[in-house]
Amino acid sequence: MDRILIRGGNRLNGAIPISGAKNSALTLMPCALLTDEPLTLRNLPRLADVDSFGHLLNQLGCSTMIEGARPEDFGRVMTMRAGKVTATIAPYDIVRKMRASILVLGPLLAREGEAKVSLPGGCAIGNRPIDLHLKVLEAFGAEMDTSNGYVTARAKDGRLPGGTMVFPVVSVGATENALMAASRAKGTCVIENAAREPEIVDLCNLLVAMGVSIDGIGTETLTIEGRDRLNGATYRVMPDRIEAGSYACAVGITGGEIDLVGAKAADMQATLIALKEAGLSITEHRDGIKVAADGTPKALTLSTAPFPGFATDMQAQFMAMLAKADGASVLTETIFENRYMHVPELARMGADIQVKGRTAVVRGVDRLAGAPVMATDLRASMSLIIAGLAAEGETQVNRVYHLDRGYERLEEKLSAVGADIERVSDG
Ligand code: UD1
Repeated sequence: MDRILIRGGNRLNGAIPISGAKNSALTLMPCALLTDEPLTLRNLPRLADVDSFGHLLNQLGCSTMIEGARPEDFGRVMTMRAGKVTATIAPYDIVRKMRASILVLGPLLAREGEAKVSLPGGCAIGNRPIDLHLKVLEAFGAEMDTSNGYVTARAKDGRLPGGTMVFPVVSVGATENALMAASRAKGTCVIENAAREPEIVDLCNLLVAMGVSIDGIGTETLTIEGRDRLNGATYRVMPDRIEAGSYACAVGITGGEIDLVGAKAADMQATLIALKEAGLSITEHRDGIKVAADGTPKALTLSTAPFPGFATDMQAQFMAMLAKADGASVLTETIFENRYMHVPELARMGADIQVKGRTAVVRGVDRLAGAPVMATDLRASMSLIIAGLAAEGETQVNRVYHLDRGYERLEEKLSAVGADIERVSDG
C-alpha cells in the first residue's frame, strides 16, 4: 500500500493548477444515463472515484471513452454514451465503496421508469442517511419500496408525474438526485429549500444544455420542466473549490506565495473570507487566485453551513492550519456528527485540540512534530498533509487511497511548489 512521506518546514512558492471538481464530476457523470446521445465532459479530474463511477456506468450499459489522455496532462476528456440502459441496479458492493453511486437513482428512474439502489449504510464521517433522496422522489410521484437493504423506485407509467418537495434541511445529494429525476418528468417538479452549492449550479447548467428547462438556478427554489427526450452535450467541469482551498490552507501554515491557477473566487467566498481573517493575503485575478502568507495564521471562529456558508469539506484543512495559529480558534461542525476523526491524529503531531460535542477548540502551538499518521476520510487525510508540511521532521501519511479519491496528483503539485514530499510504495 502507498504512503506519503513529508519532511516539513519548506515554504511553498509557485503555481498550482486546480483540477476539475470531484464533487461536480461525480454528479455530472450520471447525467450520461439520461440520454441515448453522447455526453462529453472536459476537465474531469484524474481520480480513483471518477474511474469507479465510470465502471458503474459501464455496468449499466453506458460506454465510457477517454480521449487524448497524455500522462503529463491534468484533467481528461471523457465521452459517455448510454445508447441503451442494460441494467437499473447499483449493487451493494459498489455503493458501499463509493457513496456517490446513489446518484444513479434519479437518472435511472427518469430514463427507465425504474431504479434499484443499495442503501449505503454509515460512513467514516457520520450516519449519512438517504431518507431525503427517497422522500423527494416520492414527492415527484415515484412509488418507493425499501427491502433487503435495497431501495426500489418506480414511475407508474414510465415517467414521473411531477410534484413539489420542501426539504426540511439542505441536502446536496438529494437535490442532485431530484434534479436528475425531474429532468424527464411529465409534469413540473419544484424543489424548495434546494442546495445552492456551485456543484448544483454546474449540474443545472449541464441539464439545461441537455434540453431541460430550469428556473431559479443558484437559488433555493428550483422549478424543473422535464422533457420526453434529452439531447447529448459537451460540458466543462467547474474547478475544484475544495482543492483550491486546501492548498491555500497549506500556504497559510508554511508561509510563501502560491498562485491557484484556474480557481474561481466566486465559488469559494466563505473560504476566502476566513483565509483573509486568518491574515493571509488574497488576490483574485483573471486566471485564478494568489495566496500569500507569513506562516503564522491568526486564530478564527468558524462554523460549517450549507453554501454560501463555510463548507464542511474545508473544516479539517482549516483545523490543521489553525493548529499553529497565534491564539485559540473555535470550530463548529453543523453538517456531520462525526467529522473530527482527524483530531487524534493531529494531536499525535503536537496539536492542542479539545472536542466537546460538535465544537472543537484549537489552541495554536509553536511547533508541530512529524509522526506516522492515518485518516479515515478524504478531507481528514488532507489535514494531515497540511500539518505535515509545517511539522518538524518526517510525517508519514498512511491510507493514501483516501487522498487518491479526491486530490489529483497531490505530491506532484506540492513538490512543484517546493514541498519535500514523496509517495512510497511497498510494492
Ligand atoms: C455533504 C455536504 C457537501 C459535501 C459532502 C461531502 C452540505 C450541505 N453538504 O453533501 O457540501 O461536499 O457532504 O463531504 O454541506 N441528510 C439527511 N437525509 C438525507 C440526506 C442528508 O438527513 O437523505 C442530512 C445529512 O446527514 C447531513 C445534511 O443532511 O446532516 C446534509 O447532507 P447532504 O448535503 O445530503 O450530504 P452530501 O450530499 O453528502
